[in-house]
Amino acid sequence: MEYFIETYDLTKKFTLQKGFTDFLMHPFRKDEITAVEKVNIKIGKGELFGILGPNGAGKTTLIKLLCTLILPTEGTAYVNGYNIAENSGKVRESTGFITADERSFYWRLTGRQNLKFFASLHNFYSHDAQKRVDELLNIVGLKNRADDRFLSYSAGMKQRMAIARGLLNDPEVVFMDEPTKGLDPGAAQNLREFIKERIVKEQGKTVFLSTHHLGEAEQLCDRIAIIDEGEIRVIGSPEELKSELDKPNSTLDDVFIHYTGKEFKEEVAPKHPYSERRRMMREGRRGMMRGGRIGGIRF
Ligand SMILES: Nc1ncnc2c1ncn2[C@@H]1O[C@H](COP(=O)(O)OP(=O)(O)OP(=O)(O)O)[C@@H](O)[C@H]1O
Ligand SMILES: [Mg+2]
Repeated sequence: MEYFIETYDLTKKFTLQKGFTDFLMHPFRKDEITAVEKVNIKIGKGELFGILGPNGAGKTTLIKLLCTLILPTEGTAYVNGYNIAENSGKVRESTGFITADERSFYWRLTGRQNLKFFASLHNFYSHDAQKRVDELLNIVGLKNRADDRFLSYSAGMKQRMAIARGLLNDPEVVFMDEPTKGLDPGAAQNLREFIKERIVKEQGKTVFLSTHHLGEAEQLCDRIAIIDEGEIRVIGSPEELKSELDKPNSTLDDVFIHYTGKEFKEEVAPKHPYSERRRMMREGRRGMMRGGRIGGIRF
């Protein structure tokens, strides 16, 4: 089988910054944290692979290593046949990295202008950039809103823009760090279907995604790896993992508890900051009409 991602004892340790007192008390002590420890995985072409784990488990660090954003401390990995440390340029040409960080777009520019700008960073000629941007806007279903400003997009649309940007260089492998983070259940479900149907089935991409959600991992992924404290505890298809447990009708929750000894806590999507702010303003206004107190001042 052709593997698109292969890792061999991939390890990343971070040295923690010392405070002044700490430095004086223990000048020679090195405080290290092992974010990813001896990870060995093999992922085939066209596979939708998920990495599932609690906060701080090492998911983002593993993705950053594979996208060559950080270097490993020990071990190595190959993406599309290229070594992540020795051939990082080729790895970057074959990969797209998608995060839930919408701050990396220009909010006052339109969706189309944003994509054109990022295409220019990939050294596209103007005409080719235009064609690729149109193609991608079509794929992510934002053609009708392409000339609206980015700031007017909903969270789900912003996430689709992030996916379009990640696909600009037509990568073989797409890395997604918590793609449905912060989306409401409906938008998250739409995005999951979009990833599975359009990115994997239609476009034939290999997808490596991280998630906090057991349901998402179960619904989307061909295989999942459970990671905890930097170590991969188990790898398999959701069905395999559940059937291997000595428990009738076991769930992925049971699998997680079995391999990590921990309860899995699903993260609740945070309220959107702007709708939250609007709600506070609305309530503030109502409070004003009723008479109330802001910062100790009665009105
Ligand atoms: N630049 C850094 N310097 C020091 N420690 C770091 C750095 N980046 C990550 N870590 C540590 O590495 C560990 C793994 O972090 P990572 O961000 O990979 O976890 P994660 O599984 O993505 O968590 P989350 O679900 O919260 O996003 C954590 O303990 C984190 O504090
Ligand atoms: Mg993370």
